[in-house]
Amino acid sequence: MKKKPEDKIEIVQGDITKLEVDAIVNAANTTLLGGGGVDGAIHRAAGPELLAECRTLGGCQPGEAKITRGYRLPARFVIHTVGPVWRGGKRGEPETLANCYRNSLQVAVENGIRTIAFPAISCGAYGYPIEEAAQIAVNTTREFLATTDQIEKVIFVLWDEDVYKTYRRIL
Ligand code: APR
Repeated sequence: MKKKPEDKIEIVQGDITKLEVDAIVNAANTTLLGGGGVDGAIHRAAGPELLAECRTLGGCQPGEAKITRGYRLPARFVIHTVGPVWRGGKRGEPETLANCYRNSLQVAVENGIRTIAFPAISCGAYGYPIEEAAQIAVNTTREFLATTDQIEKVIFVLWDEDVYKTYRRIL
C-alpha cells in the first residue's frame, strides 16, 4: 500500500550525529571545510577522514548538495548542503533554501539512500526565521516525496526546543 508523503516524515528533537539512518544532511558553508553548529558536530563525530574527503569536493554553492561517506558516524553518508544567509528575504533566500532540500533529496535518490535526516538548515548562524524555514523544509520535502517511492523516511532532527516546537506545529 503506497504511503502518503506526510506519513514518511518524522520530527524529533535531538543530535543528528546520533541518527542511524542511511544519510544525514549537513548545514555546511561554501568551503565545505567545517565550521560551528551542526557542521562542527558532524565533523567532530565523523572524524578527520570526513574533512579529507570534503577537501576533494571543491566547495559547494548555496542550494547545491554534495555527498561523502559518513566514516565514524552511524550514518553511512553525509550529504552536505549550503543554506542561504538570511538577508531580509528579497535575495532569493526562499528558493535557495528550497533547493537545499530538493537537491539533497535528489542526491539521496541517486545514491540509493532510503532514510535521510535533515537539521534546520540556515536556522542558526545563517539567521533564517524559523517559521518560514520550517514551512519551506516541510513543503519542499512533501512535494519531492510525492514524485518518488525511493525515499522511505525523512527525519527532521531539531536541536533547539523552540525550533522543534515550530516544526511540530507546522506538520
Ligand atoms: N544536531 C541537530 N541540529 C543541530 C546540531 C546537532 N548536533 N547542532 C546544531 N544544530 C542546529 C542549530 O541549533 C540550528 O537550529 O542546526 C541548526 C542550523 O544551525 P547552524 O549549524 O548554525 O547552521 P546554519 O544556520 O545553516 O549556518 C551554517 O554555520 O556552522 C557554520 O559552517 C557552518 O558556515 C556555516 C554556518
